[in-house]
Amino acid sequence: MSDTLPLIETDVLIIGTGPAGSTASALLATYGIDNMVINQFAWTCRTPRAHITNQRTIEALRDLGVEADCLALATPQELMGENTFATSLAGEELARVLAWGTPPARKADYELSSPAKMFDLPQNLLEPILTRTAAHRGSRVRFNTEYLSFEQDADGVTTTLLDRITQQTFQVRSKYLLGADGGNSKVAEDAALPMEGEMGLAGSMNIVFEADLTKYVAHRPSLLYWLIQPGGELAGLGIPLIRMVRPWNKWLCIWGYDINAGAPSLSDDEAKAVLHQLIGDDQVAIKIDSTSTWTVNSMYAKKNMNGRIFCLGDAVHRHTPMNGLGSNTSIQDAFNLAWKLALVINGQAEASLLDSYNDERIPVGEQVVKRATKSLGDLIPIMEALEITGVDSAEEKIQNIANRKLDTSKAEKQREKLRQAVEGTQYIYNCHGVEMNLRYTSSAIIPDGSPAEEFKRDQELYHQASSRPGANIPHAWLIDRQQQKISTVDICGKGKFTLITGLGAVKQWASALAEIEKAQGLSVVLRVIGPGQEYEDVYGDFARLRDISETGALLVRPDNIVAWRAQAASEKSSKDLLTATQKILGKG
Ligand code: FDA
Repeated sequence: MSDTLPLIETDVLIIGTGPAGSTASALLATYGIDNMVINQFAWTCRTPRAHITNQRTIEALRDLGVEADCLALATPQELMGENTFATSLAGEELARVLAWGTPPARKADYELSSPAKMFDLPQNLLEPILTRTAAHRGSRVRFNTEYLSFEQDADGVTTTLLDRITQQTFQVRSKYLLGADGGNSKVAEDAALPMEGEMGLAGSMNIVFEADLTKYVAHRPSLLYWLIQPGGELAGLGIPLIRMVRPWNKWLCIWGYDINAGAPSLSDDEAKAVLHQLIGDDQVAIKIDSTSTWTVNSMYAKKNMNGRIFCLGDAVHRHTPMNGLGSNTSIQDAFNLAWKLALVINGQAEASLLDSYNDERIPVGEQVVKRATKSLGDLIPIMEALEITGVDSAEEKIQNIANRKLDTSKAEKQREKLRQAVEGTQYIYNCHGVEMNLRYTSSAIIPDGSPAEEFKRDQELYHQASSRPGANIPHAWLIDRQQQKISTVDICGKGKFTLITGLGAVKQWASALAEIEKAQGLSVVLRVIGPGQEYEDVYGDFARLRDISETGALLVRPDNIVAWRAQAASEKSSKDLLTATQKILGKG
């Protein structure tokens, strides 16, 4: 028997069924693009890992039509936010901070910015939804298949894979290869993508376990319980964390180990002892599911593509889970790239459109890596306020923590310092601007010459809606002909460009779109918002947000990003729209 199998052909080969790869595969299949997605393991990821799912990501999941599947398994935002710092779950509580959009003063920011509500969905539950969607829509999904190497030429990529069941190698010929193979990406390495930053900054231990902790947590429902235990076995590196996986009986415990001392290995009994200590109650029954280690990285790619090779997800941005940005950014990479590949493969756009993936997503990767790395440091002031940093003796640390209860002016200052330190964690826990304020600059965005945008509030903490080219279409609730509420975000996307206008120049825009279809083969969906139209702005919110006149128009890309806008309809603006689409498609 020959040890090589026949060549397989596909348009896009995707390495990895993580959040990045499975989303890319599902989107490409939805757009009708033949693709194959592989994973070296027998199934999608086993451990919960990523979980916090932000609104921009959910908008992409809505576009794919899988939000309902996710919601059926997710923990809702209402149960995510009572982020707690304590000496143990049963012990003394030190501070709480409302997180993930749950502070009353922040709720409106989150609600106004998107039709989606944040939720918590462990990665091991999300990946099967995405991978199943890909398979149902026609992707060829292959497990037990390892990427080994690729060679690219002017017409395509030949990738060598190993079937891990038969141990036979085989080759796949594709037009494009996507490396969604995670933080140790071999594809990114083989494509010689330049990277900046450091890997292996610190070590982290995970214990996934089952235990009914209802009595310790249900009154303060949260994803994260930080347990500060001077003198405990885990004292030393960072703050140990018990993270909710399923309320309130499935958990993930994480703590830092000294990477220079090598990764620890724990027996089930040792793991249980650690958990009993953190819970503060050794009578709680615990079942250990798994233990594993991972490293904290802070690295981003300066380029995410090389010819026909595109990398996405952790392959090109690797950082700590602080802020919960990893899987979110990975899914959004796929949302940015998939429609561009589809247009190029279908011959509707030139390959140069794909350069915009690099230009748009590289700054995002750098931003999230820097934010997450900085957020690690945002927990240190809490330890400083408790006066446990730079102190060796466990007894002294315990005394220092207790000192904040004294009736002295020193203790009053300590209490105030702790309050401020906790307030400083807003950049970890309610960093809405980083999640939502996408602003792209590339050949696929046509600036409208308006003055540079000024952010009225802290750009990292607060979302600012904008209809400027490069920003996400602002969310406003409309009603449809059945009086059902529908978001402006949801009338865009589904693999298509959309032109949004009001009453006053509908015919003119319709004929401009007909011309674009004739000249460029690009069909753009026309959405008219106005009385008696398909969508009505009954609340007047879109009129307040659109920042153009009623006869003006917003051209929205399939990934919900405004590509071009016209203040008002005119003969010139129709011509400008034609030129804009030409430019976006790389034909200008
Ligand atoms: P990912 O690593 O998930 O997937 C890579 C895929 O490639 C896998 O299917 C793998 O098997 C496959 N693969 C690798 N090499 C291969 C080869 N040679 N051949 C074939 N297949 C190969 N993020 C977030 O957004 N919110 C959050 O709350 C958290 N929380 C969190 C907690 C913890 C403890 C961790 C460790 C991480 C997080 N994250 C997170 C980060 C998140 O897990 C991470 O960013 C995503 O998994 C990245 O998704 P990717 O698809 O890029 O890679």
